[in-house]
Amino acid sequence: MSDAKWCPPSLRGIVTDYIQFGVMMWRMDVEMASLLRLTLERLGVNEVVDLCSGSGGPWFRVQWMMEKEGFPVKVWLTDKYPNAAALTFARNASGGKFDFCSEPVDATRVPETLGGFRTIFSGFHHFRPGEARDILRDAVDCQQGIAIFEITKRTAWSMLNFAATALLVPLCVPLLRPFRWSRLLWTYLFPVATPVILFDSLVSCLRSYSITEMRGMTEGLDAKGYTWEAGEIKPPHSPVPITFLVGYPTKNSLKVYEAFESL
Ligand SMILES: C[S@@+](CC[C@H](N)C(=O)[O-])C[C@H]1O[C@@H](n2cnc3c(N)ncnc32)[C@H](O)[C@@H]1O
Repeated sequence: MSDAKWCPPSLRGIVTDYIQFGVMMWRMDVEMASLLRLTLERLGVNEVVDLCSGSGGPWFRVQWMMEKEGFPVKVWLTDKYPNAAALTFARNASGGKFDFCSEPVDATRVPETLGGFRTIFSGFHHFRPGEARDILRDAVDCQQGIAIFEITKRTAWSMLNFAATALLVPLCVPLLRPFRWSRLLWTYLFPVATPVILFDSLVSCLRSYSITEMRGMTEGLDAKGYTWEAGEIKPPHSPVPITFLVGYPTKNSLKVYEAFESL
């Protein structure tokens, strides 16, 4: 739904803003920031190209947490359907730490001029297996590392949690920042935000790839000296886990997730 062409940008914005809000409330961004910091620190990279950014995803807090831990990064936010209002807000509020591409950027074919470690938060399940593999292949072809984080999972437990969260939309919408009149319009006057978010969450769960499927997509993509790690992180404050896939040009005996687990 959040990538449907017919969906008005302001309604699409509510879906991505709500995902962002959920990630923050369940403090999933803390775990994502730790794994990313370890990866980028070990690779010696501090430029990031975020794909499928929506409203900026968890990068606001992730960037802040990484900076607090002594590893600031510069982030380019990109999307095939850039949400100019949300991305301008992110850029202005970041004090120069974020910038965004106003032109559409397709995650399966990132322009070579956009160099940096790639990230995708809650966007990988939007792609069919062939396209999802194209995203990974494009990163390998450009010799860029990539980290993918998914908060949805194809399980009844995950669907139940996301359904319950979607039903809280009318209570939570006034808490979303920055304030936008359009959210009130879509939530209370023409009350489609709740069913749209409910539908989007359930479809996202059903479309999510398992760890085994993600690992399968990387088969044959390590010939150019790439290390791939996939697994699950269980944030202490979240009822659902985060599934991740990280790939990077192999350096020494670097294994990021093993290091993350031993923290
Ligand atoms: C569920 S949203 C994820 C938003 C954000 N990353 C977050 O965590 O809140 C998925 C985003 O993927 C974008 N998208 C869909 N197809 C894409 C493509 N081929 N290339 C880049 N972005 C795409 C959509 O416009 C949408 O903003």
